[in-house]
Amino acid sequence: MTSASPSVPFADLHAQYLAIKPEIDAAIAEVIATSSFIRGPQVERFEADFATAIGTRHCVSCANGTDALYIAMVALGVKPGDEVIVPAMSWISTSETVTQAGGRVVFCDVDPKTYTINTAKLAALVTDRTVGIIPVHLYGQSADMAGVMDIASDRGLWAIEDCAQAHLATFEGRQVGTFGIAATFSFYPGKNLGAMGDAGAIVTNDDSLARKMAKFARHGGIVKGDHEIEGINSRLDGLQAAILSVKLRYLPGWTARRREIAAQYSQRLSQLPGLDLPQVANARAPVWHLYVVAHDARDSLAAELKQGGIQTVINYPRALPFLPCYASLGHQPQDFPVAARMQSRILSLPIFPEMTSEQLDHVLRSVASFCGVATA
Ligand SMILES: Cc1ncc(COP(=O)(O)O)c(C=O)c1O
Repeated sequence: MTSASPSVPFADLHAQYLAIKPEIDAAIAEVIATSSFIRGPQVERFEADFATAIGTRHCVSCANGTDALYIAMVALGVKPGDEVIVPAMSWISTSETVTQAGGRVVFCDVDPKTYTINTAKLAALVTDRTVGIIPVHLYGQSADMAGVMDIASDRGLWAIEDCAQAHLATFEGRQVGTFGIAATFSFYPGKNLGAMGDAGAIVTNDDSLARKMAKFARHGGIVKGDHEIEGINSRLDGLQAAILSVKLRYLPGWTARRREIAAQYSQRLSQLPGLDLPQVANARAPVWHLYVVAHDARDSLAAELKQGGIQTVINYPRALPFLPCYASLGHQPQDFPVAARMQSRILSLPIFPEMTSEQLDHVLRSVASFCGVATA
């Protein structure tokens, strides 16, 4: 790193806080002043705000995006022996919650262009036991929701959209989270809409499902003390809700900035020898939670960027079927050729709304220089 080069973190949550500090501080102070820590007005306000932002009738908040998936599957009645199809490349929450809910995970390879579930391979995986599909809008790009919903409606399956990385992304002009029977969101701090701790939500247009999910998440009873069933304790707290309502107002602007940065990356890194850039499929407007490039010498690229003060991440170093926890399924690389190849080649470059043009320039030059191309 030359002395003039800025260091580039993978994300800068402190810069985000400083940019909106007065509003965040006031929101936190209001919760403390009213001691509305659990299920207070701030939680109700955020649920209403978020349902409006996504365009669904209901938003059921919960403790995190993993619980959101679990709660949705329990409410949909997943039972032992039921099969649920999930993409081979995602964060483990997508598959581990199928098992937690009592189901059996069936992996589907991902599409080589978008890295989202390969809908051309879905139909062959459906059996008499299949009950649902969980498409993941990975890295902020929508899965092929036309393909997913066609198969789901043909075969009588539900679809839960895992939108943890894709707040406000669209498919054919329609927001992700509005296609399936339910959709789950994570507000983990580093997500496009991030809390200051764990937080999550499920959205749906189905009144009865919304009620079931809210009930299960709140000890089996929406009215305190009136437990119709046994449930779990999975709550969004008032502080996180208040913070999220403030940040939600900034999300469209932050998303626009992510899109600008992604456009710069895609334009200025194009045609570098050996470097594959993320591709956007037709009719999709990604929100660039991650900007994921691929290179045969991925580890050397990451090491050189680190040398230059640039932080990168691998999302994810091992595709789900090849994780030790699924070893008993006996999956081989040839079962999921796209996921098997991408796991050794992908690298996520820094992208966050507060990224400065100097930081962006430094990443662009460093990647180009690694690929043997000097930039002006
Ligand atoms: C695709 C995906 N699904 C689910 C989750 C789970 O969210 P959380 O960390 O809030 O439990 C995450 C986030 O880490 C994710 O990236």
